[in-house]
Amino acid sequence: MNAVEARILLTGASGGIGRAAAAAFTAAGARVLLAARNAEPLAALASQLRARQGGEDVPWLMCDLREQRDIEHLARQAAEWRCNVVVHAAGAPAFGALAQQDAAGIAAVIQTNLLAPIQLTRALLPHLRRQPRAQVICVGSVLGAIGLPGYSVYSASKFGLRGFAQALRRELAETSVQVQYLGPRSTRTAFNGADVQAYNAATRTASDPPAVVAAALLRMLEDGSAERFLGFPEKLGVRINGALPTALDGSFRRHSRSLAALPNLQERTHP
Ligand SMILES: NC(=O)c1ccc[n+]([C@@H]2O[C@H](COP(=O)([O-])OP(=O)(O)OC[C@H]3O[C@@H](n4cnc5c(N)ncnc54)[C@H](OP(=O)(O)O)[C@@H]3O)[C@@H](O)[C@H]2O)c1
Repeated sequence: MNAVEARILLTGASGGIGRAAAAAFTAAGARVLLAARNAEPLAALASQLRARQGGEDVPWLMCDLREQRDIEHLARQAAEWRCNVVVHAAGAPAFGALAQQDAAGIAAVIQTNLLAPIQLTRALLPHLRRQPRAQVICVGSVLGAIGLPGYSVYSASKFGLRGFAQALRRELAETSVQVQYLGPRSTRTAFNGADVQAYNAATRTASDPPAVVAAALLRMLEDGSAERFLGFPEKLGVRINGALPTALDGSFRRHSRSLAALPNLQERTHP
């Protein structure tokens, strides 16, 4: 849809990608409802956007997406606000060998990255279906189509999200609701700590600034494309891996060695 018609519920709005996306959406004329857990960064972002929007208030809501009650509340508020787009950009990282991850951390990542977008979409769907046009845009990852050493749990969450988006897109094909999936490659935000940066350097993994992801989200809002991945080698890798799931196994030996060589390898998740 045209950005000026869009009223976007943006989760993960205070994150690196969320802030860039909020700026790109509002610069194109969309309205945004910002959501995340912590008030201070949301309030700061809302006031920056208000200044750029000629003084119009930008609403924001605190919400812990691991809590079903918070999800239901967010969906009610977003419907009252007349949202016609949801961008699922909240996410929690998980990097490290599986043996070093604890049960609670794994559950938190799956809840945030997979269960929350499913539950939020389900809660908003009756409202979205009443809109003349509506869009659900899932921020996945290249790691939702290619599994790499060190990302077993994270990849599980993003592969799951991609499956959800694909099936729901087909389920809703005859309705006014479009479901889309964006798979960014590594992006330079606080999401990636020193361990990921060391791994990226050792494996020569390319990364993008968050503005590149924000521009792709804006394009997907406007062109309605079903699925997009960022980065040329990554796009090719997604195709090869999809067609021949073991063909790239040998290419990731260096990743496996780099993972094993990282000092003090710890799983990292948001608190
Ligand atoms: N950075 C990358 O390399 C990269 C690459 C591909 C895909 N992605 C995906 O892009 C999305 C955004 O990543 P980013 O780099 O912007 O991460 P980020 O800077 O760490 O931001 C994460 C955002 O999610 C929110 N969030 C985390 N847990 C939450 C919860 N339980 N409830 C509600 N909000 C929660 C955070 O705010 P609060 O902490 O205040 O809640 C923050 O707004 C994620 O889905 C990530 O998986 C990232």
